[in-house]
Amino acid sequence: MRTVLVGVTGCVAIYKACEVVRGLQKAGVRVKVVMTEHATEFIKPAMFRALTREPVAVGLFDDAPGDPIHHISLAKEADLFLIAPCTANVMGKIAHGIADDLLTTTAMATSAPLLIAPAMNVNMYESTANQENMRALRERGVAFVDSGSGYLACGDMGKGRLADVDEIVSRALQMLGARRDLVGKRVLITTGPTVEPIDPVRFISNPSSGKTGFALAEAAQERGAEVQLVCGPVQLDNPAGVEVMRVKTALQMYDAVDARFDDTDIAIFAAAVSDFRPAKPADYKLKKGSADAQLQILELVENPDILASMGARKRPDQVVVGFAAETEDVEENARKKLVSKHADLIIGNLAGNGRAFGTEENEIVLVDADGIAHAGPTSKRDLADIILDAALKV
Ligand code: C5P
Repeated sequence: MRTVLVGVTGCVAIYKACEVVRGLQKAGVRVKVVMTEHATEFIKPAMFRALTREPVAVGLFDDAPGDPIHHISLAKEADLFLIAPCTANVMGKIAHGIADDLLTTTAMATSAPLLIAPAMNVNMYESTANQENMRALRERGVAFVDSGSGYLACGDMGKGRLADVDEIVSRALQMLGARRDLVGKRVLITTGPTVEPIDPVRFISNPSSGKTGFALAEAAQERGAEVQLVCGPVQLDNPAGVEVMRVKTALQMYDAVDARFDDTDIAIFAAAVSDFRPAKPADYKLKKGSADAQLQILELVENPDILASMGARKRPDQVVVGFAAETEDVEENARKKLVSKHADLIIGNLAGNGRAFGTEENEIVLVDADGIAHAGPTSKRDLADIILDAALKV
C-alpha cells in the first residue's frame, strides 16, 4: 500500500485537510499526518488520529514509541509528502532550508516528491517574498496545486484560497501513480498567444493563457519525457524540469519550432497563433489625427501555419498533435484539420464566450484516423494526461 504523508499547517483552510485525508483513503492510500504547532491551535491531533488510525506527529522532540528519530522514519515511509494547506511561512522555511520543527525537518529529510497546496491571504500570496519562494521551490522540482481565487476567510477577495479538495486529491494520486511511459521521448509543445506588433506600443493578439500547454509540459515531464516548451507571452512560471523558450511573434515561434522539430518524437501545437500580422509595423507610435494611412487601413499578411508546415514534413515515427478551438461544429472542424494539417491527432474544443481561453477546466474531443473520443469537463492537468495517452496510441 502506498503512503502519503500529509503535512498540515496553521491556517483557516485546515478544515479541508480532513477531507483531503478522507479522499486519499477512499482511493486506497495509507495516510499519515504531521502537523505544525500552529496547526494544533485550529484542530487537535486527535482529529487526524481518529481519521487515519495512525499516530499523529507534531513536535520534533515528542516521544514516538520505539522511534528516536521520528523525522527520518516519517521521511522514509512517505511515497509522497503532500502539504495541504501550506502557509507562506512554511513554504518560506522549506525554500530556504530552515528545518526547525518536525514538518519542515521531514520535508528536508525526505526523498519522496513534495506536493504543496498553498493557502493564505491574497496580499501574502502575491508578496514578492512568497512569489520568489514558490518560484524557487518549483525550480527545485516541488509540485504545486496552486491556490484558486475567491473570497478569503479574512474577507479579502483574490488569490490564496486552498485549491479544491478533489483537485488536491487527484493531483496527489496522479503523482503517486506517476507513469514513466515517456522516458526517452522528446516532446515539443507550443502554447500561449503570439503578439503581432502594429507599432512599438500596440499589437494584435488573443486571450490564450497558455495553461493547456503548461499542463501538457508538466504531465509529459512527470511521465519521464525530455520536454521543450515554446510559448508566447504568458503569466506562468516555468514548469519544473522543462526547457522553456519564450517568444513573442508567430515568426519567432515558427523559427523556434523549426529548429527543434526534427529532433522531436511528439510535437503538440497548443499555441493560439495569430493567423495574421501587420504587413508593415510602424517603428514609431502611430498618432490619431495624423495623415498616416495605416490609421485608416491596417494591411495584414498571413503568418506561416506552424502545425501544417511541421505536419507536412513529419517522419512516420513522429507524432503531431494539433488543436481546433472553435465557436461551432467542433467535431467537423477537428476532422478537417486532421487532414489539412497532416496531424495524427486533433484536440477540438469550444472556445470563446468564457470557454477554454484562460479557464482552469475544459471539455475536449479527440479526433484521429480511427475515430473520435470525448473527455471532460475536467481540469486541464487531467486532460493533459488524456491527450498524452492518445498521442502514444496513434
Ligand atoms: O487553423 P487553426 O488556427 O484553427 O488551427 C489551430 C491549430 O493550428 C493549433 O494546433 C495551432 O497551434 C496551430 N497553428 C499553428 N500556426 C498557425 C496557426 C495555427 O501552428 N499559424
